[in-house]
Amino acid sequence: MAREIWDREAASFDLEADHGLTDACTRAAWRGLLLEVLPATPARVADLGCGTGTLTRLLIDGGYAVDGLDFSPEMISRARAKAPEATFTVGDAADPPLELDVYDVVLSRHVLWTMPDPMAAFARWVDLLKPHGVVVLIEGRWGTGAGLTAREAERVVRAIRTEVEVRPLPDAVYWGKEIRDERYLLISKA
Ligand SMILES: C[S@@+](CC[C@H](N)C(=O)[O-])C[C@H]1O[C@@H](n2cnc3c(N)ncnc32)[C@H](O)[C@@H]1O
Repeated sequence: MAREIWDREAASFDLEADHGLTDACTRAAWRGLLLEVLPATPARVADLGCGTGTLTRLLIDGGYAVDGLDFSPEMISRARAKAPEATFTVGDAADPPLELDVYDVVLSRHVLWTMPDPMAAFARWVDLLKPHGVVVLIEGRWGTGAGLTAREAERVVRAIRTEVEVRPLPDAVYWGKEIRDERYLLISKA
């Protein structure tokens, strides 16, 4: 999707339960999920395609140092307001203009599917990591037909990583509603 489309989405983006995490139960579920899979603090996280900065905020509150990146200025202006402690860059996640070899974690939720060449983008994401860095992706294949199946996302990751774990996320608590499509977290530690 083009940057202008995401710019237009920004004002209403947080209205979705999993986007804004304004419900305490939903927020607590995402917090628990992410803190369970992330390395202990202190740790530096690149939040690629950070949107309005909801996960950035969650991780700052968890004690992480976070650099958010998004190509939509409208998303980034909201992220800056939501998480002033983080640093933000307006840039293309297909080739993130961030420092190489410095991050403990590359986190990205619902962004890999938008990349024109997911494998090429993912290779650039891995370049941002320190040698023992961790990749955490949250993706899905939604009822609309958009997105990546877990098998497709796993194939992208396995092209350059040796270890991948996929955790299905079927629980309504993450989405604010019952779901019937495929949503998952993928973690790769090596
Ligand atoms: C579905 S939203 C997810 C936002 C955030 N990760 C979250 O989970 O709340 C997708 C985000 O990716 C951003 N995005 C899409 N393509 C991008 C690209 N090529 N470079 C940087 N950001 C991009 C959009 O602007 C949007 O903010």
